[in-house]
Amino acid sequence: LDNGLARTPPMGWLAWERFRCNVDCVDDPYNCISEHLFMQMADRLAEDGWKDAGYDHITIDDCWMSMERDDQGNLYANKTRFPNGIKKLADYVHSKGLKLGIYLDFGTHTCGGYPGSIKYLQQDAETIAGWGIDLLKMDGCYANVSDMSWGYPDMEQYMNKTGRPILFSCSWPAYAGGIKVDYSSLEKHCNMWRNYDDIQDSWDSVTGIIDWYGDNQNILAPAAGPGHWNDPDMLIVGDYSLSYEESKAQMAMWAILAAPLFMSNDLRSISAEARSILMNKEVIRISQDSLGMQGRRIIKDKTMVETWVKPLMSPDTHAVAFLNRRADGMPYNHTLTLGSLNFSSSTGYEVVDVYTSRRYGHFNLDAKLTVSIDPHAVVFVMLYPAK
Ligand code: DGJ
Repeated sequence: LDNGLARTPPMGWLAWERFRCNVDCVDDPYNCISEHLFMQMADRLAEDGWKDAGYDHITIDDCWMSMERDDQGNLYANKTRFPNGIKKLADYVHSKGLKLGIYLDFGTHTCGGYPGSIKYLQQDAETIAGWGIDLLKMDGCYANVSDMSWGYPDMEQYMNKTGRPILFSCSWPAYAGGIKVDYSSLEKHCNMWRNYDDIQDSWDSVTGIIDWYGDNQNILAPAAGPGHWNDPDMLIVGDYSLSYEESKAQMAMWAILAAPLFMSNDLRSISAEARSILMNKEVIRISQDSLGMQGRRIIKDKTMVETWVKPLMSPDTHAVAFLNRRADGMPYNHTLTLGSLNFSSSTGYEVVDVYTSRRYGHFNLDAKLTVSIDPHAVVFVMLYPAK
C-alpha cells in the first residue's frame, strides 16, 4: 500500500501470542488485556531501548472491545479494563514516541466473539482515526472469504479518506488459503498481511511456518517489497518454549524473510539472553535493508541443512542462513563452496558471522567453507564481495 508507511518491515510489539484473550482482570490483573498492560509495555518499549532499536509500534489484539456497540453503532473499549478509553491510551503511547495499533475483524464478530466490522467499515475507520490509531490489524473470522476481495480494499479507502496515515495489516490471505489470493490487490491495499497459520509458542510451529514460506516462495516472495510485506506472524523469542539457539534461528529467519518484527512476549520480565537476540543490531539491519527483498530457500536437500539467502541493497551483498533441520541432536559440520550456491563475485567474498561478528575470512568461489551448526539452530552469515 502506497501510503508512505512500512517502507521497511514494520517493528513493534503485539499482544496476542503471549497474552491472548485473558480478560480476567479480577484474578489476573497483571496479565489481563487492559490499558495497564499496554501502558506498561509502552513504558518498557520506550525506556528499555526497544524503541531506539526500531520496535516502535505497540498493538492491541482481540478482546479489547465492549461486547456491544453503543446506540449510534460506535465501537468502544471495555469500560472496566480500559476505563480511560482508547484515545487516552493513544495519547499516552504517543507521548512515549510510540505508535498505537488496534484490532478489528472484517466479519460479523471477532474471533473472540466481540463486535465485527462488516456493516460498519466506514464508521470504524473514522472511529479509530479519531482516536489517533496508527496501525490496524483487520482479522477475518466470521466472514465470507469471497467478500474479502472488496472488503479489505474498501476499508483501505475509508481509512485513506480520514486523512490519517494508518498502517494496514490484513489477515485476508490467511483466511483465503494463503496462496489463492490476488497478491497484486494485497500489495495495493495493505501494508502487510498474514498468509498462514497463527504462530504458537513452539519450535514446531516456527519450523512449520518456515516450511510453508519456503514451499510457496515463488508466489510469496515477489509480493514483498517496500510498503507491502508478507507476515509470518509474531516473534516468540522471550517466551517459554524456544531454546537460545531456536530463538536465534527464528530471529534470523524472520530477517531473511523480510518479515514484520512484532514481538509477543513480556517485556517486563524478559531475559537478557532473549533481549540480546531481539536487539541484535546486525540482524535488525538485515531485516530493515532498504532493498526490501524477501529471501528465499535456495537449497533443501538430504543434508537436512537448508540454505536461505536474502540479497541486500549494497551490490552483491547477501545475508545467508544455514538452518539445521536434522534430527540427530548433535552439531553438524556443513561444507560448501560459494560457487555451488551460485554466488558469482569473481574476487570471492568476505564471510562474517552475523551473531558473533567472527570473520570466517576470504573465500574464492571454489574454496571450501565449513560451518558447524547446532541442532535446531542457524549459522547466519553476511557475504561481502571481496575488493
Ligand atoms: C486470529 C489471528 O490470526 C490471531 O493473530 C489473533 O488476532 C486472533 N485471531 C485473535 O482472536
